[in-house]
Amino acid sequence: MAVGNHELQIDLNEIGKRNSASKPLHPNMLSLLILPLLIHHIQACFHHSVKRDEETMAADIAAANLRKREHTRLGNRKIAITNVHVFDGFEYHNETSTVVIDGSIIGTNSTGAIEIDGNGGTLLPGLFDNHNHPTNLADLNNLSAYGVTTTMCMSCWTNSDLCASLRNQIGLTDLYSSGYSAVVPNSSHALFINATTVDNNAVIRNTSMCPGWVRDRITTGSDFIKLVAEAYEPTMNQAEHNAIVKASHELGYSTATHASTLTAYEMAIDSGSDWIQHTPADGLLNDSYVAKMVANGQHSTPTMNIYQNVEGAQVSLHLTDEQLSQLNQTIPANVKKLYDAGVPILAGTDSSLNYGGPALIPFGATLHKELELLVQAGVSNLDVLKAATSRPAQVYNMLDRGVIAPGLRADLLLVRGNPLVNISKTREIEKVWITGIEYDT
Ligand SMILES: *[C@@H]1O[C@H](CO)[C@@H](O)[C@H](O)[C@H]1NC(C)=O
Ligand SMILES: *[C@@H]1O[C@H](CO)[C@@H](O)[C@H](O)[C@H]1NC(C)=O
Ligand SMILES: *[C@@H]1O[C@H](CO)[C@@H](O)[C@H](O)[C@H]1NC(C)=O
Ligand SMILES: *[C@@H]1O[C@H](CO)[C@@H](O)[C@H](O)[C@H]1NC(C)=O
Ligand SMILES: *[C@@H]1O[C@H](CO)[C@@H](O)[C@H](O)[C@H]1NC(C)=O
Ligand SMILES: *[C@@H]1O[C@H](CO)[C@@H](O)[C@H](O)[C@H]1NC(C)=O
Ligand SMILES: *[C@@H]1O[C@H](CO)[C@@H](O)[C@H](O)[C@H]1NC(C)=O
Ligand SMILES: *[C@@H]1O[C@H](CO)[C@@H](O)[C@H](O)[C@H]1NC(C)=O
Ligand SMILES: *[C@@H]1O[C@H](CO)[C@@H](O)[C@H](O)[C@H]1NC(C)=O
Ligand SMILES: [Zn+2]
Repeated sequence: MAVGNHELQIDLNEIGKRNSASKPLHPNMLSLLILPLLIHHIQACFHHSVKRDEETMAADIAAANLRKREHTRLGNRKIAITNVHVFDGFEYHNETSTVVIDGSIIGTNSTGAIEIDGNGGTLLPGLFDNHNHPTNLADLNNLSAYGVTTTMCMSCWTNSDLCASLRNQIGLTDLYSSGYSAVVPNSSHALFINATTVDNNAVIRNTSMCPGWVRDRITTGSDFIKLVAEAYEPTMNQAEHNAIVKASHELGYSTATHASTLTAYEMAIDSGSDWIQHTPADGLLNDSYVAKMVANGQHSTPTMNIYQNVEGAQVSLHLTDEQLSQLNQTIPANVKKLYDAGVPILAGTDSSLNYGGPALIPFGATLHKELELLVQAGVSNLDVLKAATSRPAQVYNMLDRGVIAPGLRADLLLVRGNPLVNISKTREIEKVWITGIEYDT
């Protein structure tokens, strides 16, 4: 696993181009992961505040597009953050130093800079939330306030204009998105988003249509491709998963697959999908599948925090009393098993508040909760911090961020204390910069 070394080759000329392998270079990626586990809870939410009307959605899109027209300037000031310990995305530097923000990027020359005393705190690269579902400016503001400077929106199920309106918002969290997810008619996710109503062509009906479906996603602006392996029938079959992953890779796009049970997870592994979302809740992954995941170079985004408040898990996952009581052991045990085997872990939340989101999970704070849960599961503080910084940058080939180094985006998070010693210190936020623009709550 060539992750986490110091050999990250940064060639600014390459930023924004797609690489030759299966990964989009600037993979605006994302996939929507709604846990089938949560379906019972979700359906309950439909009758409450989760689903908002078309009029509100149109107003949110208009507001986001208006902000985009009004905020077009990147950071242009020079700032010197002095007296800070730096976690550069790979390692913590015990000696304090000065980091220069020069306009929208990290610079080297502090002459004439406005000085900000870091007070012996820690400066980190801005964080990634590797799985969530923001739908409006308030969500991006909440992410920004918590130091999340890049986010992977794992599906714009209901309206691709919505995700488009949230992309490239200067001074706010940078969003990448999958657009619609691949679902079959009448599956739990299709019903959840009313997929056939949204767009009759958005659902998968057979294997032969899969390559065309992938091309449609790319044409409508998807940064990566999202698939759903349901917890129970109906669900896409193995051949459909394989066909979508193959077509995506042939076009240079990466894939993310939702999977919250063992059979779904195994289907995702067998398909060769790049980034597998969630964690099997109904049992421990077996050794041969874990080994296969390592051999395939697949990544895991466990989204542990959504398993904390699951209602209806027993009904929707058909769990026995014993399995239900095991949930809080099964999730961390699977994460530990993947981590120990060398599967790269990415930090994600499944945050969602509106328009067909999976549950009411707030933005921003939950990423810090996820970091804590990953540590509790046995992932080292260092690997947890990498899971939200340099690792996703490498996995997504976003070589302009995720690391503190001259020439890279000035996406930075200044906290009090040392999160390498106590992961909760990432919550003690002093300041956040996004392309050199200080986020002002
Ligand atoms: C880090 O620096 C402090 C003083 O600032 C020192 O007490 C401590 O031993 C150093 N730790 C390491 C691992 O070098
Ligand atoms: C640093 O910036 C100052 C002011 O712009 C400039 O005069 C100086 O030559 C720069 N130093 C280096 C080493 O580039
Ligand atoms: C989230 O954003 C809204 C609107 O921008 C704000 O009112 C609210 O306080 C924020 N919540 C958190 C937890 O930051
Ligand atoms: C979906 O379910 C409805 C109601 O049960 C049924 O009428 C319809 O034929 C189903 N559609 C497909 C494609 O299975
Ligand atoms: C799904 O679409 C149907 C037909 O347009 C509509 O009546 C129904 O309210 C929609 N359901 C949801 C949950 O949006
Ligand atoms: C696959 O589904 C598409 C879309 O419904 C349809 O046009 C096509 O004829 C189907 N192909 C096969 C081989 O069933
Ligand atoms: C893992 O599960 C697969 C599918 O259920 C099975 O074929 C395989 O033998 C299992 N491997 C181990 C080591 O249990
Ligand atoms: C799992 O743990 C969380 C937090 O400790 C708790 O709120 C939840 O009820 C537990 N869930 C189960 C199914 O035991
Ligand atoms: C870790 O940091 C948090 C946040 O500052 C704090 O509440 C907690 O007490 C610290 N834990 C330890 C063991 O110091
Ligand atoms: Zn999700």
